[in-house]
Amino acid sequence: MLFKLRVSIATAIFVTSLYSKETLAYDAADDAIDASKWAAASTKVNHLIAKLNLTEKASMVTGTADGQCIGNLASVERIGFGGLCLSDGPQGLHLADLASVFPSGLTAAATWDRDLIARRGAAMGAEFRGKGANVMLGPSTGPLGRSPWGGRNWEGFSPDPYLSGVAMQETIRSVQALGVQACAKHFIGNEQETHRTNEEIDGFDVAAVSANIDDRTLHEVYLWPFADAVKAGVASLMCSYNRVNMTYSCENDLLLNKILRDELGFEGYVMSDWFATHSGARAINAGLDLSMPGYLSETDFTHSYFGSHVVSGVKNGSISEHRLNEMIQRILTPYFYFNQDTDYPTIDPSSYAVTAATYGLLSAEDLAPAGRDVRGNHSTLIREIGSAGTVLLKNLNNILPLESPMVIGVFGNDAPDVTAGLLYPSNNNGFEIGTLTVGGGSGSGRNSYIVSPLEAIKARAKHDGSRVIYLTDNDIVAEGDFKGIYPWPDICLVFLKTWVSEGIDRITLEADWNSTEVVNQVASICPGKTVVITHTGGVNSMPWADNENVTAILAAHYPGQESGNSIVDILWGDVNPSGKLPYTIAKNTSDYNTPILNLTGASAAISDAWQVNFTEGLMIDYRHFDAQEITPLYEFGYGLSYTSFNLSTELSVQYHGIVNGDVSALSLDSNKKTPVGGNSDLWCKMIEVDTAVVNTGFVAGATIVQLYLSYPMKSMPSGTPFKVLRGFEKVTLSPGAHQMIRFSLRRRDLSFWDTEAQQWRIPEGLFNISVGFSSRDLPISVSAQIL
Ligand SMILES: *[C@@H]1O[C@H](CO)[C@@H](O)[C@H](O)[C@H]1NC(C)=O
Ligand SMILES: *[C@@H]1O[C@H](CO)[C@@H](O)[C@H](O)[C@H]1NC(C)=O
Ligand SMILES: *[C@@H]1O[C@H](CO)[C@@H](O)[C@H](O)[C@H]1NC(C)=O
Ligand SMILES: *[C@@H]1O[C@H](CO)[C@@H](O)[C@H](O)[C@H]1NC(C)=O
Ligand SMILES: *[C@@H]1O[C@H](CO)[C@@H](O)[C@H](O)[C@H]1NC(C)=O
Ligand SMILES: *[C@@H]1O[C@H](CO)[C@@H](O)[C@H](O)[C@H]1NC(C)=O
Ligand SMILES: *[C@@H]1O[C@H](CO)[C@@H](O)[C@H](O)[C@H]1NC(C)=O
Ligand SMILES: *[C@@H]1O[C@H](CO)[C@@H](O)[C@H](O)[C@H]1NC(C)=O
Ligand SMILES: *[C@@H]1O[C@H](CO)[C@@H](O)[C@H](O)[C@H]1NC(C)=O
Ligand SMILES: *[C@@H]1O[C@H](CO)[C@@H](O)[C@H](O)[C@H]1NC(C)=O
Ligand SMILES: *[C@@H]1O[C@H](CO)[C@@H](O)[C@H](O)[C@H]1NC(C)=O
Repeated sequence: MLFKLRVSIATAIFVTSLYSKETLAYDAADDAIDASKWAAASTKVNHLIAKLNLTEKASMVTGTADGQCIGNLASVERIGFGGLCLSDGPQGLHLADLASVFPSGLTAAATWDRDLIARRGAAMGAEFRGKGANVMLGPSTGPLGRSPWGGRNWEGFSPDPYLSGVAMQETIRSVQALGVQACAKHFIGNEQETHRTNEEIDGFDVAAVSANIDDRTLHEVYLWPFADAVKAGVASLMCSYNRVNMTYSCENDLLLNKILRDELGFEGYVMSDWFATHSGARAINAGLDLSMPGYLSETDFTHSYFGSHVVSGVKNGSISEHRLNEMIQRILTPYFYFNQDTDYPTIDPSSYAVTAATYGLLSAEDLAPAGRDVRGNHSTLIREIGSAGTVLLKNLNNILPLESPMVIGVFGNDAPDVTAGLLYPSNNNGFEIGTLTVGGGSGSGRNSYIVSPLEAIKARAKHDGSRVIYLTDNDIVAEGDFKGIYPWPDICLVFLKTWVSEGIDRITLEADWNSTEVVNQVASICPGKTVVITHTGGVNSMPWADNENVTAILAAHYPGQESGNSIVDILWGDVNPSGKLPYTIAKNTSDYNTPILNLTGASAAISDAWQVNFTEGLMIDYRHFDAQEITPLYEFGYGLSYTSFNLSTELSVQYHGIVNGDVSALSLDSNKKTPVGGNSDLWCKMIEVDTAVVNTGFVAGATIVQLYLSYPMKSMPSGTPFKVLRGFEKVTLSPGAHQMIRFSLRRRDLSFWDTEAQQWRIPEGLFNISVGFSSRDLPISVSAQIL
């Protein structure tokens, strides 16, 4: 039973004391993991552990170089364990032939579409399974995206923890529904690539950068999406290269034992990032379960911090056998839970050859067996996500969608096919000619084909009877040499790219290859008809955005292998843009408050010198722009459509799970053992907010209705953001049609982390709930009060 309370805008300050008498019980059906099946797998593993001798136990927690995958765990046939094959990465298989290159996590986030994110996860999961990879090393939400210069932000989703949390949960649930183990990474604070791990500088061994994060910021920002991952039943987590508060993440007792196990109830295993283990007993006792890749370095395959040291450590008492058994328990339970012992494809025979080719180690005499084609019909979905993750930022005079026929000019080195091969080189600049479908490093992919923008535009133009003329050498465009162009096009499409890669942070937010000059030159010959399209792994500065002659802008992110088809669908209006920015684009890069730490000279060679104090606390991205009252160029959540939408005038709030106003501020839990995902009270619905949206334009389209919450500031600790995202819903409507939308806010969504009580607490007073189409377009709001 629940009471429904209507509150119109005019009476928004109205406070209710009427609550439902019934406490909304926690709904176990929400759990992704079947607890009794998990318990059965766990019992089975207990019996198996009893059969292992110490050497075997040590091998069970230590990766081996002897295998075909990027990470391998040896089999122990005697107990029915076939070993583990762990494969990169978060946007599909990295080292594989005949696999798909999916839109990046950032692109998926820009769709704000739960269903598409889930279908992306399912398609990736099917490919990992098809290749016989037991563990998908993804999804990533570390880095979260604290700094727009971060080199790996595109592998994850968004600097907003709520949006990232939803994306983590949807991805993990759909990957694991196929019996593939997911690995949520990189835990935690891996917010920069620069000196992410320890290395020798000027002869000194310099410790990795330390992310110094206060407790509240950790809980409300960086840990938040990992909590969603644990709640979604993720099988494994990967601890990160960096240190947190001066202790390596992979040997951090507070993070791995206290927070992950005791507080979040995580029952899976923690593996190290590759070569991120720094000790044996110390790491093991701090909560590291599996050392990857198991050996010491890329040149030393025989030594290990684990392996034989686990044996001697147990013998001399520095590691308890009980703890070792627990590590194996954690590693093996998901394997049996997901039936990987009886019902799993073998490792694709081409795996090793593809890996060798990637590292330039494959010679002509080597056997290169045919790989299994696992792509299925995923290209259709990839094309769809590529369009849905494209954000229309500017569209003067409704220049888009295009009409045909006409003379179409295509400019920029991101438009044509690549000339450097289908596997993007991992150098600092990317490569000059050819479109970018994905970024670099372990999250990259070996394209089995690429539909380039130029190719797709030509195909479309041929079909329409239009003409395409093009100039794709940026040096020539930047010089303003347009002799190759005749006649002047009716429309000029400028394709820009930004190479972003693991291992290096960005030194500029500007798109690559003289992009600003390229845009300005094209705009000067094509005034009022210039459309800029960016392919990028993150924020771009857009110094040309206000140029009156730049008529339309599309941020197309990294769309994956169907890039050209995805953008043609948007340009010609077969798909109405609905993507929204999952980050803030500043007018001036100096408006961002979170640069990369980059020490140089003598100061760089001091062991503990590399420390980043997260003194901005919760104020990253739009929260910072709100707090400092900085007007962005394009705000978080922003994105245009070829149609228009409007909301109904009122929001209604319904209260759940509140007993006669007697609400415990803290989420108390009577159980001793923490449920998976943490205190189950946190996941109970507390209020529901209803509104309706209508398509007021002339074409069908979709939009994302967003809900932001402002806490009652008087009862909040300092450093609380002005507002935070707490709900979003994608709605597709034909012209004139409308639809009701219901947002559910759980206890966690309405709480803050009380550092003293070490609990989530609901503050006293009026919340302001506002709903609209971006973080700065929130036309309707309502008050709500819990305490
Ligand atoms: C442990 O078992 C393995 C495999 O069965 C065997 O090769 C090894 O000798 C055993 N080690 C010990 C110390 O018993
Ligand atoms: C890091 O240090 C801050 C400040 O002392 C503290 O609030 C926080 O709990 C620490 N976190 C970890 C994981 O050590
Ligand atoms: C116990 O063994 C571990 C692993 O080999 C070693 O690092 C440690 O120094 C040993 N401790 C003692 C007290 O012998
Ligand atoms: C792809 O194939 C699966 C079954 O093989 C089907 O369920 C799905 O609808 C297809 N998807 C598309 C986009 O065609
Ligand atoms: C850090 O400094 C080095 C040396 O000056 C430079 O090469 C590198 O590009 C810088 N990185 C970033 C992200 O600024
Ligand atoms: C930018 O253009 C100049 C001259 O047109 C050229 O020398 C330079 O190499 C270009 N830089 C890049 C990054 O393309
Ligand atoms: C826009 O184009 C017009 C016509 O070519 C030109 O006069 C004007 O200077 C251009 N504006 C900018 C900002 O480049
Ligand atoms: C950006 O901000 C910096 C520092 O405030 C200022 O020097 C610079 O002129 C600004 N750039 C633009 C394009 O406004
Ligand atoms: C970070 O905080 C520590 C401890 O308060 C301080 O010693 C250090 O100087 C700070 N580092 C920077 C770069 O501000
Ligand atoms: C949008 O809704 C508001 C409030 O209901 C109304 O005042 C306004 O006229 C509507 N706008 C359009 C274009 O329908
Ligand atoms: C609620 O938040 C919205 C959006 O930020 C704002 O426009 C409105 O004035 C706020 N209402 C109250 C009562 O603070």
